[in-house]
Amino acid sequence: MSSRVRKAVIPAAGLGTRFLPATKATPKEMLPVVDKPAIQYVVEEVVRSGIDDVLIITGRNKPSLEDHFDRVVELEDTLERDEGKRELLDRVRASTDLAHLHFVRQKDPHGLGHAVSCAAEHVGREPFAVLLGDDLIDERDELLTRMIDVQAEKGGCVLALLEVPPEQISLYGCAAVEATDTPDVVTVTELVEKPAAKDAPSNLALIGRYVLSPEIFDVLAETPPGRGGEIQVTDAIARLIDPEAVGGPVHGVVFRGRRYDTGDKADYLRSIVQLACDRADLGPDFRAWLTEFAASRLPLGDPDVPLQP
Ligand code: UTP
Repeated sequence: MSSRVRKAVIPAAGLGTRFLPATKATPKEMLPVVDKPAIQYVVEEVVRSGIDDVLIITGRNKPSLEDHFDRVVELEDTLERDEGKRELLDRVRASTDLAHLHFVRQKDPHGLGHAVSCAAEHVGREPFAVLLGDDLIDERDELLTRMIDVQAEKGGCVLALLEVPPEQISLYGCAAVEATDTPDVVTVTELVEKPAAKDAPSNLALIGRYVLSPEIFDVLAETPPGRGGEIQVTDAIARLIDPEAVGGPVHGVVFRGRRYDTGDKADYLRSIVQLACDRADLGPDFRAWLTEFAASRLPLGDPDVPLQP
């Protein structure tokens, strides 16, 4: 039986090309989702699962990732002097005090697998969680804790799987699975990176949460570049499916909650709208405006009629 997961790794060193030019000087994980950068939601999720050791993999031109979680004393002093800014001050301070944060640089963005291998020294020989910095799970839904529990029970690796419409599976890693006695847990029998819909073994997509055994580092060290010339973590995990492999087996938790992908432009917009609608402070006014806006843009509405502010 392996030890319970204590450390989380957030790879955030990608180039974010889908958001260029916004991501020329700003990491995509720092793009605001309402009023927090995407990566802060991810760190908060880690903390809710009981982990307080977080390693963020950063890259060149990404100092804002570190700055965001650091104190800004002058800002705090200014807010402190204004009684009306108490709540803001608390929120600013909370963002600097979330967890024990560590940073390592991935010198060149050779892919997610390569980014994960940059965590080897920090993680050591224990299972660990990996969360993608642009993939958000709603705080009302539990995923990471469930994955950690499954890993504690079964050992090996645990992947987060989401059912997607068959025409979307080509955007994801895809898992062939067998059922277990537990309804939301499956045994993974094969992984295929971004298959065409007709070749996909299922409509279960890998989303940005993993619990991995430390043997993944040994496999990654020998994994050649795959799709797109990048070292793919999926290729390395696939090697741990082999019943003879040390570091397996590989299980999946089928997630049925709310997930927001902020790494893609259209999904980023949807994420912001959904999260804003559900916010107690913004939601009521924003929903009313959105209803009116949507009605004005529906096929029967006239897109040329300006919406009143
Ligand atoms: P993505 O492929 O979604 O991110 O990788 P990207 O490469 O930044 O974005 P596009 O496709 O060019 O728009 C998934 C996650 O893995 C990280 C990214 O930062 C993202 O959070 N990643 C990817 C790394 O840390 N290093 C890499 O070499 C590649």
